[in-house]
Amino acid sequence: MSIKTIVVQPGGGFDKVVVGSDQPRAPGAGEITVRLHASSLNYHDYAVVSGAWGPSEPRIPMSDGAGVVTAVGAGVTELKVGDHVVSLFFPEWPDGEPGIAQGDFSRVPGDGIDGYAREAVTVPASAFTLAPKGWSHAEAATLTCAGLTAWYALFEGGHIKPGDTVLTQGSGGVSVFALQFAKAAGATVIATTSSPAKAERLRELGADHVINYREDPAWGETARKLTGGVGVDHVVELGGPGTLAQSMLAARIGGQVSIIGILTGLEGNMSVITAIARHLHLRGVLVGNRKHQLNMIRAVEANGIRPVIDSVYPLEDIVAAFRHQESNRHFGKICLEM
Ligand SMILES: NC(=O)c1ccc[n+]([C@@H]2O[C@H](COP(=O)([O-])OP(=O)(O)OC[C@H]3O[C@@H](n4cnc5c(N)ncnc54)[C@H](OP(=O)(O)O)[C@@H]3O)[C@@H](O)[C@H]2O)c1
Repeated sequence: MSIKTIVVQPGGGFDKVVVGSDQPRAPGAGEITVRLHASSLNYHDYAVVSGAWGPSEPRIPMSDGAGVVTAVGAGVTELKVGDHVVSLFFPEWPDGEPGIAQGDFSRVPGDGIDGYAREAVTVPASAFTLAPKGWSHAEAATLTCAGLTAWYALFEGGHIKPGDTVLTQGSGGVSVFALQFAKAAGATVIATTSSPAKAERLRELGADHVINYREDPAWGETARKLTGGVGVDHVVELGGPGTLAQSMLAARIGGQVSIIGILTGLEGNMSVITAIARHLHLRGVLVGNRKHQLNMIRAVEANGIRPVIDSVYPLEDIVAAFRHQESNRHFGKICLEM
C-alpha cells in the first residue's frame, strides 16, 4: 500500500514543500503501525516548514499525530490493533526530569526526525499514548504539543490551585488550552489578545478579564491592578522578549512566569533586578513527557474539556494551513486531516 507523505526539502520554505509517497513497513518488535488521520499546527512546525528553522535534510514535518493502531509488533502490550492513539512530542522522555535528549529538538518528530504529515507511520509503541475516549482524531492531535505545554506549565511544576490568578497571552493553541485548564482548576484568568472579536470568544470560554495588548501596551500593569495590586500567581509567557517585561510586572511577589514562547523573537533584555526584587520563579517550559501526557488525558476526560479547533485542512493543503496560521486570524488550533 502506498501512502501520501509531505516532505520539506532542506532549508525549508513554503516553496520547498512537496507531496510524495511512501511504503509503510510492518512493525518490528516493540513497534506499532498507526494509520494517521490528523495532525495539528504549532508555531514550532511553522518554523520548520516556513524555513525559519528549516531542516538540514529532507524532512516529514509535524510533531502532532493521531490515528488508529493497525498492527503491533512482538512484545507490545500497552496498545492493541484498533486503539485510537496520539503521539508524544518527546518520544524518548517517559517520566521524571528532562535529560540531555530533551535539551534540543534533535529527537523531536517533525524537526530532528521525521514527523506525522503522512498517512501512516511505524514507530516504537512508546511514541504514542491512548487518545482521550470519544475524541475525534483532529481533537486528539491538538494535545501533543499545545495541550501538553499548557498542562506542563500549569500543573507539573506549576502547581496552580483554586483561587489562583493566571495570565494567558493571545488566542493561539497554547493560550486557549491554558485558559481552559486554568478555569477547570478553579483559577481566575486574565487573557490578552489583539482582537475585540477574539476577546469576546475568550470571555465565552471563561476568561474573567480580557486586555487588548495593542491598545494597552502596559497590559502587565493593568493585569496587576485587576488583582487589587497584588499581581497574578502564574504567567503563561508566550511572547518572549517583547512581552517578558510586562509579564514580570504582572506577576505577584514570588509568582511564577512560565517562559514558553518566542512570538516576538529569541533574545532580548531582561530586568534582572525586577526578577530578584520580586522573588520571581522564571521557569523554562518545553512541552512535557509521557507521564504528563497521561495525566493530562485523564484530566480532560474527567473534566469534559474539548479542544477549540479553528479550522481543518486536508493534508495536501498544509501550506494553506500555515498561511492561515501566519495571518493570526485563527482562534485555538488549526488541524490537518488525512
Ligand atoms: N516551549 C514550549 O514547549 C512551546 C510549546 C508550544 C508553543 N510554544 C511557543 O508558544 C508560542 C505560541 O504558540 P502557539 O502554537 O500557541 O501559536 P499560535 O497558535 O500560532 O498562536 C499565536 C497567537 O499568539 C498571539 N500573539 C502574537 N503575538 C503576540 C504578542 N506580542 N503578545 C501576545 N500574544 C501574541 C496572537 O493572538 P491574538 O490574535 O489573540 O492577539 C496569535 O494568534 C510560540 O512562540 C511557540 O513557539 C512553545
